[in-house]
Amino acid sequence: MIWTPEIQAAPPRTETLSWDKIPFGRVFSRHLAVAQYAEGSWQRPRIQPMGELSLHPGTSALHYGQSLFEGLKAYQRPDGTRFAFRAEDHWKRLNRSAARLAMPEVPYDLFANMLKALLEVERDLFPPDLEHAVYIRPLYFAADRWLGVRPSETYTLLIYLTPVGPYYTGEVKAYVENEMSRAAPGGTGSVKMAGNYAAAMLSGKKAQQFGCQVSLWLDALSREYIEEFSTMNAFIVQRGPKLLTPPLDRGTILPGVTRDTILYLASHLGIPVEEREVSIYEIVEGITHGEVSEVFGTGTAATIMPIQALHYDGKLWTLPSTHPVADELSRSYRRLLAGELSPSKSEWIWLI
Ligand code: COI
Repeated sequence: MIWTPEIQAAPPRTETLSWDKIPFGRVFSRHLAVAQYAEGSWQRPRIQPMGELSLHPGTSALHYGQSLFEGLKAYQRPDGTRFAFRAEDHWKRLNRSAARLAMPEVPYDLFANMLKALLEVERDLFPPDLEHAVYIRPLYFAADRWLGVRPSETYTLLIYLTPVGPYYTGEVKAYVENEMSRAAPGGTGSVKMAGNYAAAMLSGKKAQQFGCQVSLWLDALSREYIEEFSTMNAFIVQRGPKLLTPPLDRGTILPGVTRDTILYLASHLGIPVEEREVSIYEIVEGITHGEVSEVFGTGTAATIMPIQALHYDGKLWTLPSTHPVADELSRSYRRLLAGELSPSKSEWIWLI
């Protein structure tokens, strides 16, 4: 199969991008990469002008949620080098999500060719600095027009881009959700499927009522151990400093690529990390007694986001307003992107 996309060029962008006030996920690339799977194989992909999709009301993904996505970023260095960060790891995670949802594997060459061609035709979308990025959104869903409940036989993979700055622009407080659950062992908590986000929306509304921007999920069995924020993995900084983060082995949290990058950067900086179950009591008592000095979230969209306070059990547990560990990790992350960290982890830099 030829994985090089056929390209139908879109008209040039008419508006100028104002990078200093670009909203997350509202400005889109002029092109869309599309691949379809039918009769047991992927068809040749194409790049076409961005536009509305025409979907039959019986499209399986709309009813039964066989739909997943990824989020990764591409950057431009001051010397003009353009690259996507950890693209292969995102492709691997996309396929782990696909396997859990009984969807066909996406071949690496198909994904890579679609993405490279799209980033090439969208050269004008690259930001002027490493504070901004091209956010890449692969979206993969069941396309059968049939109301029977079974894995679809046809699928659509889309990739499009949106230029972004910070995901959160102000302070972030987290509402510790102790009534609803996000994931249970054996469920789908570790995959990036649309339904996980749908199931979290109501908690997000509750969080807003308490002045919080994100929820912090607890484990479904005991509601004692933290799992992840609604948009990010969770890290706790204990005096030392030492980092704590929930482990992946229960299969209830997303194996974040940024989480993994932070684990690497922490070891590079000599900051010890414990991947272990972290009790919410340990955290709130730690905040009270000064043992816990920072809490932060990590994710592709948010990168590294300090949390200002936790709303738990009707009380607000406020964290110190300075976050030196999160700041140091952010600086190292930036140096990694700039190619200034040694070792450079060049295998994470996917040059375009
Ligand atoms: C990402 O961080 O890329 C995500 O997919 C999270 C999303 C809620 C923006």
